Amino acid sequence: MSGDERGDPADGGRDPTGGDPLFAEAGVLNRTELIRRPELLEISTVPGSDRIAGRTEQIQYVASNIGPLVTNSEPTSVMIYGKTGTGKSLVSKHTSRRVVREAESRGTDVEMVYVDCAQHNTEAQATSKIAREVNKLAGEPESIPITGLGPSHYYSYIWSLLEDHYDGGIVILDEIDQLQPTEDANTLLMQLSRAGESEKTEAYIGVIGISNKVEWGDELNSRVLSSLGNEETVFPPYDADQLQNILSAREDAFHDGVLASEIIPRTAALAAREHGDARKAVRILKNAGKLAEQEGAEQVQEHHVNEAQMKAEVDRLRELLATDTPHARYVLLALAELTQNTDETEFRTTRIYDAYVEVCKQEAADHLKIDRVRDLLREHAFNDTVESTLESGGRAGGTYKQHRLLKDPAVVKESVMREM
Ligand SMILES: Nc1ncnc2c1ncn2[C@@H]1O[C@H](COP(=O)(O)OP(=O)(O)OP(=O)(O)O)[C@@H](O)[C@H]1O
Ligand SMILES: [Mg+2]
Repeated sequence: MSGDERGDPADGGRDPTGGDPLFAEAGVLNRTELIRRPELLEISTVPGSDRIAGRTEQIQYVASNIGPLVTNSEPTSVMIYGKTGTGKSLVSKHTSRRVVREAESRGTDVEMVYVDCAQHNTEAQATSKIAREVNKLAGEPESIPITGLGPSHYYSYIWSLLEDHYDGGIVILDEIDQLQPTEDANTLLMQLSRAGESEKTEAYIGVIGISNKVEWGDELNSRVLSSLGNEETVFPPYDADQLQNILSAREDAFHDGVLASEIIPRTAALAAREHGDARKAVRILKNAGKLAEQEGAEQVQEHHVNEAQMKAEVDRLRELLATDTPHARYVLLALAELTQNTDETEFRTTRIYDAYVEVCKQEAADHLKIDRVRDLLREHAFNDTVESTLESGGRAGGTYKQHRLLKDPAVVKESVMREM
């Protein structure tokens, strides 16, 4: 032990109860318990019917397209788009479960399989996952290798397992834009949604494709779109009232009297600020509760909510960046550097492009063409990390775009570096 450490005044000092003050300060001793049911504040929990608010229309939309399965009729596959936290995954799972249950009560055998395409991101991996899930649900009649087979073999398993054990199946392809290359997504959607038509299996298959990149639909070819029955919908962001209802339905996560009346409206208002994101709302409420507990407070107060909101911002940016491509991150980094190193806040595409090319040089990466960078900026604008405005003027009298970073550049840089 060094002399300095031994001489630390806190070391050996005592708090009023006679203990080492370090632990009182660290919030270990005077914690309060304010959260009664933490699972209700977990993002991964799929809330039951009584806790879902503001999505009646969307649930009905999915039910009207996938629902025919309950009477052993042909479903229509759908694509669902919408910003993050707008209930796409939740509504898809919730409605699919209800289809499965209703089918069962009518004597029809339907099962659902959920695939996170960010995890299973090629046609082979996704088909392997679907085949193994159906196999599991059917009681493991086959032994299917996780890898090593081509997609065509996995499709054969899927068709025969469905044919032998079920009247119908629902396949949810979440984060479908993560399938690489995009052609894999086209093929997968086509194979699944046209399986009946091409007589591969007699079981009806309803596909729900989900993406938080609205423009990704442009990547789908017209044959795929028509095999999806051209059905697509965009889930709008929640408004502050809907977020309030979502949070109120989980109020019992806290002990009685812990949430003062202004806490839920305040949290909802903060979460609705950029775009109404339910995940963010739930996360802020949970973190506010935890902060209050650590502080030994008897109630969750507004300053806990404000602090939790700041933390949620950073977490969300990290998540967004984690699924972005490296070049999407380089573009954001370029804009963050410009914002930090100049007095300006808005930059033209060409200027960002130059800064982006510099970033690529530093990263020893080949840079993309400017049109791709334009697309990436549009993607960032869609995710509310960047705001783009169309300006008219310029010498030739045409129009040009100006882009502004909506996040703290220091937070962006830190988050981007972490991913690189
Ligand atoms: N209508 C709702 N009622 C209650 N809770 C909701 C509702 N919508 C979303 N949530 C909560 O927010 C979380 C995130 O929602 P969900 O996963 O459906 O978002 P998403 O649209 O799929 O977002 P992403 O594009 O980021 O995947 C859910 O786990 C759930 O806890
Ligand atoms: Mg989702």
